[in-house]
Amino acid sequence: MKEIKIETQLTIFDSINELDKEVKELMEKAIEARKNAYAPYSKFNVGAALLLENGQTVIGSNQENAAYPSGLCAERVAVFHAGAVFPNTRILKIAITAGSTLTATTKPIPPCGSCRQSLFEYEFKQDSGIEVYFMGETGEVYKSDSIQNLLPLTFDKNFL
Ligand code: THU
Repeated sequence: MKEIKIETQLTIFDSINELDKEVKELMEKAIEARKNAYAPYSKFNVGAALLLENGQTVIGSNQENAAYPSGLCAERVAVFHAGAVFPNTRILKIAITAGSTLTATTKPIPPCGSCRQSLFEYEFKQDSGIEVYFMGETGEVYKSDSIQNLLPLTFDKNFL
């Protein structure tokens, strides 16, 4: 028997103001996108903004449904949109912000497991990391250098 230890590394910024200009602007787009969330059931609004290597930004927000599982997270709305419109353009960065209308969301909100898997598909396909920045409505911003860093033991097409 043997054991392995899997470590991950994050960078923590005190606030959006500590981000460089490009990432701050991307996070501001995610904040704007959050306003278009359709979340009448959870009251939890999420916005995401992707920066592509061609300089384009693609946004998404969570879209809920009365049949709950039919809804979709902001990150997947954004990444599937990017895949549909710019299928061969690398994704460089994603900024994510979330806020509840019921309570103050001051802690960074990480992407859910399904979104990590969906984003990883594109990271694997393009063979280069996607930087991930995530925050609540206010407060600290967490940065990961890649999706894989947030999803160890990733499942990819080579297992099929
Ligand atoms: N949500 C996202 O948009 N992204 C995540 O990574 C986590 C959860 C949405 C889904 C649902 O509309 C609401 O937040 C509550 O789970």
